[in-house]
Amino acid sequence: MRILLIGSKGQLGSELNISLKKYGEIIDSDRSKLDLENHEKISLYIEQIHPTIIINASAYTNVEEAEDNEILASKINFKAVSILAQISKKLDILLIHFSTDYVFDGTKKDPYLEDDLPCPINIYGKTKLEGEKAIQESGCKYYIFRVSWLIGKYGSNFAKKIIYFAKNKETLKVINDQKGVPTSPRLIGEVMNHLIKSYQTNSIWDFGIYNLNPRGEASWFIIAKFIINFINEMDNKNSFLVKSVQPVSTNEFKTKAKRPLNSLLDNSKLEKVLGYELNDWESYFINDLKEILHNSL
Ligand SMILES: NC(=O)c1ccc[n+]([C@@H]2O[C@H](COP(=O)([O-])OP(=O)(O)OC[C@H]3O[C@@H](n4cnc5c(N)ncnc54)[C@H](OP(=O)(O)O)[C@@H]3O)[C@@H](O)[C@H]2O)c1
Repeated sequence: MRILLIGSKGQLGSELNISLKKYGEIIDSDRSKLDLENHEKISLYIEQIHPTIIINASAYTNVEEAEDNEILASKINFKAVSILAQISKKLDILLIHFSTDYVFDGTKKDPYLEDDLPCPINIYGKTKLEGEKAIQESGCKYYIFRVSWLIGKYGSNFAKKIIYFAKNKETLKVINDQKGVPTSPRLIGEVMNHLIKSYQTNSIWDFGIYNLNPRGEASWFIIAKFIINFINEMDNKNSFLVKSVQPVSTNEFKTKAKRPLNSLLDNSKLEKVLGYELNDWESYFINDLKEILHNSL
């Protein structure tokens, strides 16, 4: 089975490039092989490779900069995705795509379900939602996985920033009124393994949108505290300056892009097809944190 992995050098793509190797031929594609801004080249590239499955782990992910770069964000998160969906329909390719909790406005009290009405409050979320809709309207075979707060060992992320600041500052101020959970790329890799196995054996999951994040609830502050507590246990060389982490509200941080206050996604639809419950976020996060720290100490 030939799998084309687009965005293979990102946080998620790097992990999938390793965890899906066992499925035969993985063709990993980064910007140097396929630039998604180059819309006229996308279909030709896919036609030449003619994969069984496309996994699109690429996206314009800079939430802040998207506020000033809507045209570029839309080119990658909407228009390029729309072309991927159309060519997938034409060539009968399965399209696996990733979206985000940021398609919601965060005003719901409980975790979001797949069919809750999206209402993005920033440009990144708006362009990601347009990408979702383009896939749905194309008529291709697709899975869209909405994930939240991606944190793993590859690329740049919140945990790496906290570790950097913990080395250089005594007090950290971290937002405490945005609810969500960190999602490990490794967990996504595990779910992709199950999905591809089921696809290979014809016990195919229903096509559509699935939420994909671990169980539990956290905030950026709770995750930062978790990291600092762990650092304090591990750091026998005293390489960290940090002494305390203080909770602050979203209003105290001036950002261009608005963030939803509730990013929790209900994953019961996914757990049903998997046939087991996902663990709480801490059990995935601790392993990623160990690896991140191992590389930074
Ligand atoms: N990060 C999060 O917290 C988060 C949360 C929810 C959902 N998601 C979703 O999860 C997926 C994976 O996110 P991630 O954090 O792994 O993203 P990432 O680390 O920013 O990686 C995105 C990848 O897309 C590639 N890309 C961007 N523009 C491109 C272009 N014009 N042509 C070709 N490739 C291009 C990037 O290549 P370059 O390195 O060359 O730019 C990069 O390798 C995305 O769909 C994202 O929307 C992420």
